[in-house]
Amino acid sequence: MNAVSFRAAAEALRPRLVAWRRQLHQCPELGFEEKETAALVAGVLTELGLQVRMGIGGTGVVGVLAGAKDGPAVALRADMDALPLQEDTAVEFASRYPGRMHGCGHDAHMAVVLGAAALLAARRQELPGPVVFIFQPGEEMPPGGARLMLAAGVLDNPPVKAIFGLHVTSYLPVGTVGVRRGAIMASADNFTIKIKGRTVHGASPHLGVDAIVAAAQAILALQTIVARRLDPVQPAVLTVGTIHGGEKENIVAGQVTMTGTTRALNNVIRKQLEAGMRQVLAGVAAASGTAIDLDYLWGYPPLINDEKLTTLFRRVAGAVLGPDKVLELANPSLGAEDFARYAEKLPAVYFNLGAAIPDVEPHPWHHPQFNINEDCLPIGAGLLASLAVAALG
Ligand code: NI
Repeated sequence: MNAVSFRAAAEALRPRLVAWRRQLHQCPELGFEEKETAALVAGVLTELGLQVRMGIGGTGVVGVLAGAKDGPAVALRADMDALPLQEDTAVEFASRYPGRMHGCGHDAHMAVVLGAAALLAARRQELPGPVVFIFQPGEEMPPGGARLMLAAGVLDNPPVKAIFGLHVTSYLPVGTVGVRRGAIMASADNFTIKIKGRTVHGASPHLGVDAIVAAAQAILALQTIVARRLDPVQPAVLTVGTIHGGEKENIVAGQVTMTGTTRALNNVIRKQLEAGMRQVLAGVAAASGTAIDLDYLWGYPPLINDEKLTTLFRRVAGAVLGPDKVLELANPSLGAEDFARYAEKLPAVYFNLGAAIPDVEPHPWHHPQFNINEDCLPIGAGLLASLAVAALG
């Protein structure tokens, strides 16, 4: 079994890959509600002769394919959840559920990982070790499903030594993959700020404490953390996404609540963001006479691709797709992915699978017209199967 040995089999699998993807696309389910989805996935894995466990981390599914030999395993991971989004594509296999859509391609991820399971199961006598197929719930719902899958021990029995995950993208052509050594996606931490002042008639502000003015000061001062306190060569984002306060035009607001998110590519910057926010908000509180409470929740960690495993990835993908089809992503994304939680525990590689539809304007993830080129499915399945074999060897 070498890096290109799955190419023909993956092409032959194309009708099933497309059928799986379309079936899954039609029954989008939100995080931790993936029941139909889990049943479909578990059904395919069982039919392929894998040892299957359901209800892991909520609605997750894990399949284990025993190899010819025991020993540490390699894992392939797909996410299962859809989005609360009204689909606006013209495909004949559109969502059957109003207000729910596979608008982030997780249907394709599942199809591709099922495809890799089918390819590897067909040649299990040659497989140099076990492969674990992880279908996790709730990627879109921080703190996310990966955490629960890990707590359920999905990397423990058999022990997993390396893991691969992917995301389809409509911005890269079919036949290409995008990858990057080190940080490829950011951490995503969320915060809630509660500002308490004192309500009073709008005509006599000196008798109250205005939470809205304090909020305005806080928002502007918070922006100086990224602009003035952090190392400018280290990317960071601080976004205040919501603000709610006040009841009537002639009442000084006694309370404002704001929520937002921060992003960073390493834990040092993450800590500096939180510490900076605490310091700035304490200063605004003192200056304004308000009481400010910051609830800061650490969410998904930065997603770091392992150096050695990225080298293996590039070698295998280069052999399968052609060396010029393995694109080095110039920049990480400051989006986040809970695949990062696996990457915290063991060597991991996360990559983008090109899925652009020719002559169609690409739509980003979470767009109501998001769609993929299904030609990427056999490519992804063949590549994952080859990666599993290479990483086992
Ligand atoms: Ni996604």
